[in-house]
Amino acid sequence: MPRAVRFEHYGGVEVLEVVEVSRPVPAAGQVLVRVKAAGINPGEISIRDGRLHERWPATFPSGEGSDLAGVIEELGDGVERWALGDEALGFTDNRASHAELVLVEAEHLVVRPPGVSWEVAGALPVAGMTAYAAVRAVALTTGDTVVVSGAAGGVGSLAVQLARHAGAGVVGLASKEHHPWLSEHGVIPVSYGEGVAERISDAAGAGVDAFVDTFGDGYVELAIGLGVAPERIDTIIDYEAAQKFGAKTEASAAAANAEVLGELVGLIEGGELEVPIANVYSLDRVQDAYRELEHRHTLGKIVLVP
Ligand SMILES: NC(=O)c1ccc[n+]([C@@H]2O[C@H](COP(=O)([O-])OP(=O)(O)OC[C@H]3O[C@@H](n4cnc5c(N)ncnc54)[C@H](OP(=O)(O)O)[C@@H]3O)[C@@H](O)[C@H]2O)c1
Repeated sequence: MPRAVRFEHYGGVEVLEVVEVSRPVPAAGQVLVRVKAAGINPGEISIRDGRLHERWPATFPSGEGSDLAGVIEELGDGVERWALGDEALGFTDNRASHAELVLVEAEHLVVRPPGVSWEVAGALPVAGMTAYAAVRAVALTTGDTVVVSGAAGGVGSLAVQLARHAGAGVVGLASKEHHPWLSEHGVIPVSYGEGVAERISDAAGAGVDAFVDTFGDGYVELAIGLGVAPERIDTIIDYEAAQKFGAKTEASAAAANAEVLGELVGLIEGGELEVPIANVYSLDRVQDAYRELEHRHTLGKIVLVP
C-alpha cells in the first residue's frame, strides 16, 4: 500500500505520521503521480498547528503538502495531454503531496525537463508561483530599486532573482550567513534588525521604488516610511498591514497556473533562475524536515523524497 503523511489532530511536528493509505484513483481530469520529490512550505505549519483553523480548517485525518514532482502512473478519463511515464511537476490544492502517490489535476502540471533535478522540480511550485506573483505585483522596470525581506528564504531567494531578471536593482534583507549567496546573484545584501531602514537607504542610494515583503513583522510600515507608494508594496504574509496601508497581497493564488510554472521552469532550464536546496529529507523524516523549516533561517527550500 502507498504511504502518505497524515495527522489526526492539530499540534506540533510530533502529530505528523507516515502511514499506509489506500491507493488513490484518479477522477476525470486527474492523473496519479508517483512522487519523486515534494517541497515543504511554512503555511503547512500554520495549518497543522491549528492557527489557520478559522480561515482554512482541517478535516481529520488530514494529509498535507502542495508541491510535487514525479512520474505519471495512471490517467483519469478525458486526460489527453499526459501519457503514462511522463515526468512532471506541479501542485495540488488538496493537502496531499507529501506522499508516495498523489492525485493531481492534469492542468496543474507541467513537463519536468531532464535538466531540472527532481529536488528542484519538487521545490519550485508554491515558492516559485508566489515569488512570481509578488514581483509582478510591484511592476518593476529597468532602473527601479526594490527591497526584498526574507531574501534568502524559499520565496525570497526566487523573488530576488526574478526582480533582477526584470531589470531592477535589488536590496535583499538577510542574515550575514546568506550575504555571499545574495551577492553572487547580483543582490545587495543588507542585515535586518536595529537600524535596518538606514542601512537600506544607504544601500539603495537614489531611493527605494518598490518593496516585496516575504517576512511580515513590520516591513510594510518600514516600506511606507522609506517613501514607497503603497501600490508598489506587496506582502505575501502581513494582510493586516496591507489593509492598513493599502499595500498589495498578491501571492501564490494570483499565479497558480501551469503557464507561470512553465515560464519558471524555462528560466531554470536556461540557467537564469536557481532554486537553492537547503536540505533533502526522506518522507519518513518529515518531522525533522519541519523542525528545520520552523527555525525560519533556511537558504532556499527543504524537500521531502518518498
Ligand atoms: N500567501 C501565500 O500564498 C504564501 C505562499 C508562500 C509563502 N507564504 C508565507 O511567506 C513567508 C515566507 O515563506 P518562505 O517559504 O520563503 O519561508 P522561509 O523559507 O522559512 O524563509 C524564511 C526567511 O526569513 C528570513 N528571516 C528570518 N528572520 C527575519 C527577519 N527578522 N527579517 C527579515 N527576514 C528574516 C530568513 O533569513 P535568514 O536565514 O537570512 O535569517 C529566511 O531566509 C511565510 O510566512 C509563508 O507562510 C505565503
